Amino acid sequence: MGWATSPFLFASNMKNLWYKDAVFYELYIRSFYDTNDDGHGDLKGVIAKLDYLQELGITCIWLLPMYPSPLKDDGYDISDYYNIHADYGTLDDFKRLVEEVHTRGMRIVTDLVLNHTSDQHPWFQAARSSRTNPFRDYYVWSDTDKKYSGVRLIFGDVETSNWAWDEATGQYYWHRFYTSQPDLNFDNPAVQAEMLNVVRFWLNLGVDGFRVDAPTYLFEREGTNCESLPETHAYLKRLRAVINEEFPGRVLLAESNQQPRELIEYFGNGHDEFHMAFNFPLMTRIFLAFAEGNAEPIRSVIEQTPQTGEECQWAIFLRNHDELTLEMASPAEREHMYREYAPDPKMILNLGLRRRLAPLLKGDHRRIELANALILSLPGTPVLYYGDEIGMGENLDLSDRNGVRTPMQWTDSENAGFTKAKPFAELVTGEYGHHHVNVDSQVAEPDSLFHAIRRLLFIRKDQPAFGRGDIQMLDAPSSLLAFKRKYLDVTMVCVYNLCTTSETFTLPENEQGGYINLLENEEQVVESIQLEPYSYVWMKKYGE
Ligand code: GLC
Ligand code: CA
Repeated sequence: MGWATSPFLFASNMKNLWYKDAVFYELYIRSFYDTNDDGHGDLKGVIAKLDYLQELGITCIWLLPMYPSPLKDDGYDISDYYNIHADYGTLDDFKRLVEEVHTRGMRIVTDLVLNHTSDQHPWFQAARSSRTNPFRDYYVWSDTDKKYSGVRLIFGDVETSNWAWDEATGQYYWHRFYTSQPDLNFDNPAVQAEMLNVVRFWLNLGVDGFRVDAPTYLFEREGTNCESLPETHAYLKRLRAVINEEFPGRVLLAESNQQPRELIEYFGNGHDEFHMAFNFPLMTRIFLAFAEGNAEPIRSVIEQTPQTGEECQWAIFLRNHDELTLEMASPAEREHMYREYAPDPKMILNLGLRRRLAPLLKGDHRRIELANALILSLPGTPVLYYGDEIGMGENLDLSDRNGVRTPMQWTDSENAGFTKAKPFAELVTGEYGHHHVNVDSQVAEPDSLFHAIRRLLFIRKDQPAFGRGDIQMLDAPSSLLAFKRKYLDVTMVCVYNLCTTSETFTLPENEQGGYINLLENEEQVVESIQLEPYSYVWMKKYGE
């Protein structure tokens, strides 16, 4: 019997591809739920709310960094890779969380920050103590700040250079992010090995994989932009080999904000680099489509995005804990986005928008629901950002990206039911404040955004075509997005109206016939469909 036909291998492969049918939820522990009354969310708080997440339909949580850190970049500046930040609890709490997640049949991935450490990490402290310290070579040093001059600045609102001067030893060190985040030197074999040990440590504790932070910048080479270099891909392949050989079934998800052509390289040859990658280009185009009332931006990016291999999967998202990045948008697109989405200049950070989903889409439930339906039905695995399922807003008075990381709004009572103490950050006020937007009231109200999203998640769960099927665009007027997803003997047809007027979609003749309307759960014979502004349909049939 050949490999491909062995039922056992087929079944185990289906199981290892769990991430294709998953629904991810990005969770910021500090803002989720406080159980020890210190104003900071903690691991026990995550455990306490797992039932809520399961009720919503989440199958995998992604935790933002939970390691010891001086918090100069909210935990993306790690000072100890083998422990838990004291605000969040202990390693034992973490082990219990993993267990509780798994007991519910859910999964958990954590953030893996390879590119840099905190300047408080003992490696960097040793490295900067003298030029001859054995750890000196763990970081990237130079006598001049002119090296790698072709490299862009990512945190351009704060930093003026990717080099920082170290007074004591009289050299510069390299950092792609804040000065307080020195880049590790991946040319050093010891660094390469250290980071694989970190990986093994957390996988041995049972995590189901990693969202790999900033994997684009591991190596530096003169004369390049130091992004996505062949050396970087080679190291990422070593990382994948550890998964394939020692931890099959765990997943690697790339946070690489690049154009589709460079981005696709992070999948390697289909089974030797990342399993998943965030689809940044699609995310930007969804917001552009809303701004233009036209589906063309989405249609064209889907057509430019190559189909991924059997084991590969896009992670599709609308918002996350960072600014909505427009680094890869064209200048004209960026201008259009600023006009539509940044009426107040305070909303712009670096090149992006530090805003939440609901206010970006004008608090309009039709648009918010449609945007969610899109990421649930386009090729890939959806990743929801905490709080967006109830339509939370941002607090622009908080600096940097903190305005989109405010405490989860559980109830309309004091401190939004997040803590009994003073919350670590000011809550959102006004129309998006917890008196208007909170979990309690939405769970009680069948017409709420929470229930709309929940219903979609449960429909999706029964339809593997959404996570695994291929896609084909259907001809439609420019304000409509229409496509077919096909998997095994099932065909889905999805149609979205992205504009403010009612539109008609006529199915191609050979597609007309009997369908199950998944949203209404009824059988219909369909030739054409009338779509009200921002409405959509999901239909299914068996066969071609
Ligand atoms: C990623 C994270 C961001 C962080 C940066 C540096 O882009 O999403 O929050 O600041 O990496 O680690
Ligand atoms: Ca706490």
